[in-house]
Amino acid sequence: MTTDFLVIGSGIAGLTFALKVAQDFPDKKITVLTKTTADETNTKYAQGGIAAVWDDEVDHFDKHIEDTLIAGDGLCNPKIVEIVVKEGPERVREIIEWGARFDKDPDGEYALGKEGGHSEFRILHYKDVTGKEMERALVEAVRKKPNIEVLSHWFVVDLITQHHLGYLVMKSTPDVECYGVYALNLHTMQMEKIIAAKTLLATGGNGQIYRTTTNPIIATGDGVAMVYRAKGRIENMEFIQFHPTALYEPNVKGYSFLITEAVRGDGGILRNNKGEAFMDKYDERKDLAPRDIVARAIDSEMKINGTEHVWLDCTHMDKEKFIHHFPNIYEKCKSIGIDVMKQMIPVAPAAHYSCGGIKTDEMGRTTIRNLYAAGECSSTGLHGANRLASNSLLEAMVFAHRCYLDVVEHAADLKVNDRIPDWNAEGTTAPREMILITQSLKELQLLMTDYVGIVRTNTRLERASRRLDLLHEETEQLYQETEVSPQLCQLRNMITVSYLVVKGAQFRKESRGLHFNTDYPYKLELVQNIVL
Ligand code: FAD
Ligand code: SIN
Repeated sequence: MTTDFLVIGSGIAGLTFALKVAQDFPDKKITVLTKTTADETNTKYAQGGIAAVWDDEVDHFDKHIEDTLIAGDGLCNPKIVEIVVKEGPERVREIIEWGARFDKDPDGEYALGKEGGHSEFRILHYKDVTGKEMERALVEAVRKKPNIEVLSHWFVVDLITQHHLGYLVMKSTPDVECYGVYALNLHTMQMEKIIAAKTLLATGGNGQIYRTTTNPIIATGDGVAMVYRAKGRIENMEFIQFHPTALYEPNVKGYSFLITEAVRGDGGILRNNKGEAFMDKYDERKDLAPRDIVARAIDSEMKINGTEHVWLDCTHMDKEKFIHHFPNIYEKCKSIGIDVMKQMIPVAPAAHYSCGGIKTDEMGRTTIRNLYAAGECSSTGLHGANRLASNSLLEAMVFAHRCYLDVVEHAADLKVNDRIPDWNAEGTTAPREMILITQSLKELQLLMTDYVGIVRTNTRLERASRRLDLLHEETEQLYQETEVSPQLCQLRNMITVSYLVVKGAQFRKESRGLHFNTDYPYKLELVQNIVL
């Protein structure tokens, strides 16, 4: 298969890019690949909303910039922060034009929410299902474009580079180039090569490397692992954001239901098992301190009191307003027997967002030629050591737009390489024991949770590293011998991504933002990105 523009991922980053390119190049073909259904993405699960300076009578770009820089704890790239904050409102207006709805006040103005780390009300939202609404609007807009083809249930296995033409490609090789991808068509279980002039990776996050995460099962870090194998640069992977308040349901597998930070923005209070509101012990901003502080405070309360969760108290909040703003949360809690107006909600931190990822420049270009990255899989310099709430949907749209601007500028060199060999499956046989994959996955999630969680130590990281080596060795052997399956590829990718998280954490000999190591409980003066 040959296409002009290949997009891997159908979340906010992938679809925004696809729409813009389709509009500018009506005679070019845009192919979007997604490993399950078109809308099954992290985007669909976003609750709180999208941050943008909207009401410039009370808010200002400088304030949003400052909040982002403070959360990022010295590691944001100020130029990128300025770009995202200043270009953000225009991108939000665009998605409104494409059909996304956001809540309005009775006077017809957009209702702006507030979340941890924000000094102003600037979060546009659609009830507590903002992402679902944005994804709906994007999928519908894409379906109307005849030159966009969305291929669901196609699993991308690897990027094609000079390596597949028989050349030795190393980290030091200049001008590694991307010619497209090898992907498994899950309808036929055939491996196909898809050749493209330009490829965008918009593969989302990696929360599934942890046992408890808010991320759906698609979030396995595939894009980051592919770029690392293709010898591209990956940065700041140690900064995994744990959301403070995922619903605590010990017997639920897969992913945890999120209780949006906006609930605390509207007055929800965290309490420990003795009923004490504890956040004032940890930060003067109390329940609305940035996420790393709140998550660590909850972790500390759980450890002090020997509990597996704390409580989120909404019983004092206005019922009508709560149901209006958070209908999804209200219904979810009701479905498990919790009346949030009478009972507190059990919550615990869960892996939520990867601040690091595929290193890009200010136009979304990766270190591999003809390969772009946008959205959660990328590391643009916006988030630094900790992402400010609701800045992620914004970054995805701003960078999808910048990638689009770059392809427009280089539209004259849209060439494809037609000498790509077929996938070589020689020497592999059908998988005989899926249990080997599922068991290794459980081990991986457990070791990342136990040794590479909210609070880290050198000993725990060493243990994680040793266990990962063994999992890596066993899984690589399985990969060499077995026919490719999504389960095996995802396990392989998650091991690679976990390795990058652990290595980043070991190289960072300080505590900064989301990375907290009790052996180095201070910040170094020299502020550095860790690039692998
Ligand atoms: P995604 O939306 O995750 O899309 C990834 C796509 O890549 C999917 O289509 C997937 O199928 C595809 N893919 C991945 N690997 C492969 C492969 N190997 N082959 C083929 N396809 C592949 N951010 C905010 O700013 N505000 C919020 O309120 C907010 N709330 C959140 C709530 C939850 C519960 C979660 C999980 C996240 C939230 N976030 C929020 C973060 C935000 O939703 C994500 O960072 C953002 O949506 C990521 O968008 P994306 O386009 O990068 O990737
Ligand atoms: C939330 O709604 O609390 C999540 C917001 C985010 O991850 O940015």
